[in-house]
Amino acid sequence: MLLAPSILGADLGALRAHAREAIEAGCEWLHVDVMDGHFVPNISFGVPVMQSLRALAEETETLLDVHLMIEEPDRYLRDFADAGAGLLTVHAEACPHLHRTVQHIKELGCQAGVALNPATPLTALDHILPDLDLVLVMSVNPGFAGQAYIPATKAKIGHVARRAAQAKPDLLIQVDGGVTPENAAQNVQAGANVLVAASAIFKGNGTIAENVRAFRDAVSS
Ligand code: DX5
Ligand code: ZN
Repeated sequence: MLLAPSILGADLGALRAHAREAIEAGCEWLHVDVMDGHFVPNISFGVPVMQSLRALAEETETLLDVHLMIEEPDRYLRDFADAGAGLLTVHAEACPHLHRTVQHIKELGCQAGVALNPATPLTALDHILPDLDLVLVMSVNPGFAGQAYIPATKAKIGHVARRAAQAKPDLLIQVDGGVTPENAAQNVQAGANVLVAASAIFKGNGTIAENVRAFRDAVSS
């Protein structure tokens, strides 16, 4: 199980220090939530914030996992790739030519992910699953940290895992939104192998390191 703390939950004034703390506590990836105020109702941050994390990511060999909650993501893929993204995830709902977008991501040398909103059926990926490195199953409606996990997500992750077993056995299955130590194990049992968490890691009860440990303990017990 890989942990991808979302920097959306971090104190941006201390972003590098907090990101380093999460990495030193054992998180493999950093999840960068990019929001444009159109595809989702909120605006977060973009390429400059990526650039400020790049040296840390390179020094610690941490993958920058960029979740693009934006319209017309093709316009910005190169900028994010140039800023150090290792994985670029676009939303199926924002990409009328999803196959082209996925090929574009790969041409830029990044791993390619596609995210599905809670109401988007998995059939949207029927003909493209073997081309993907990652499917991101949204467990909240994207736009904000701190929302409650939608329970139907667990079954959806199971569907993705069963499809992947036939079409793409090494697919990464990521779950994002309302993920906590309390529901971590059920997501992993359903088939998720990458957990994203903003609030539960950066705003949880303990220190960042303690919060990361709570996820590991929950999944290993
Ligand atoms: C939601 C973002 C998530 C968010 C998760 O729109 O894609 O990555 O930061 O936040 P929590 O873990 O607080 O639900
Ligand atoms: Zn996200």
